[in-house]
Amino acid sequence: MSTAVPEPGPKDAVTTHAAAGPDVDVVAIAPDPEVAAGIIEDTPLEDIFDAGTTAQAQEIISRYPMSRSALLPMLHLVQSVQGYVSQEGIAFCAKQLDLSDAEVSAVATFYTMYKRKPCGEHLVSVCTNTLCAAMGGDAIYKRLQTHLGSEEEPLGHNETAGTPNEPGSITLEHAECLAACDLAPVIQVNYEYFDNQTEDKAVALVDALRAGKKPAPTRGAPLSTFKGAELQLAGFFPEDEAAYRRDVDGPSQAVETLRGAKLAQERGWVAPVAQDVPLPEVEKK
Ligand code: FES
Repeated sequence: MSTAVPEPGPKDAVTTHAAAGPDVDVVAIAPDPEVAAGIIEDTPLEDIFDAGTTAQAQEIISRYPMSRSALLPMLHLVQSVQGYVSQEGIAFCAKQLDLSDAEVSAVATFYTMYKRKPCGEHLVSVCTNTLCAAMGGDAIYKRLQTHLGSEEEPLGHNETAGTPNEPGSITLEHAECLAACDLAPVIQVNYEYFDNQTEDKAVALVDALRAGKKPAPTRGAPLSTFKGAELQLAGFFPEDEAAYRRDVDGPSQAVETLRGAKLAQERGWVAPVAQDVPLPEVEKK
């Protein structure tokens, strides 16, 4: 068995990352073994990402002084096409941005919003961080696992009930704090909030999604699909003002969130004026 240590850098990145362990995200960096062995043919990038998507990629790049800064929205763009970041998606981003596949993979595998497996029509994220977990988030997640799977085979993290990309399919994930602790336990569907959840409310929510309905989120924009949300995250919205408003407008405040500010207002509480404090001296180098 070879003990040679791979050199860092794009050339040996597959070997370097694979050496870290059998991580599913890391495995996805490596080229498809069947393609590499010539058993199946590689799909040309233009067959997946058409001229319209390429034009959108160029538009994203034009927003930044340096093209590589466009990588995050560009990864959302490829997810809006395929429902995940595939090996082809990584190659597309790399080509558009003049980066190596390894550089794009390193970013795509770092953030949980970039999915390594095809997602369902809807992504359901249950917060199981401390406060939500204590308020029922753990129980909600477990209930959805068996409701979307079965008692014998509960649906796992990032697994999909139904066929990915097909109507009514749902990918379930447990999420870290979704920044709505005052409304715990919370669920997001395609990153829109459903606050103050219970097990029964969560079951009714996923049943409605499976039936093709789009329940209104508690706050924020109306519900779209995972791919639709990804296009918005890439920065693309309808040009027509009315259509744009329909896509993005929604209640943005929660009573619970404003309760502290309201109390302070009623009681005349104000924050103390910040004093001008000189910055500490730092040693010159
Ligand atoms: S712990 Fe769930 S939103 Fe913060």
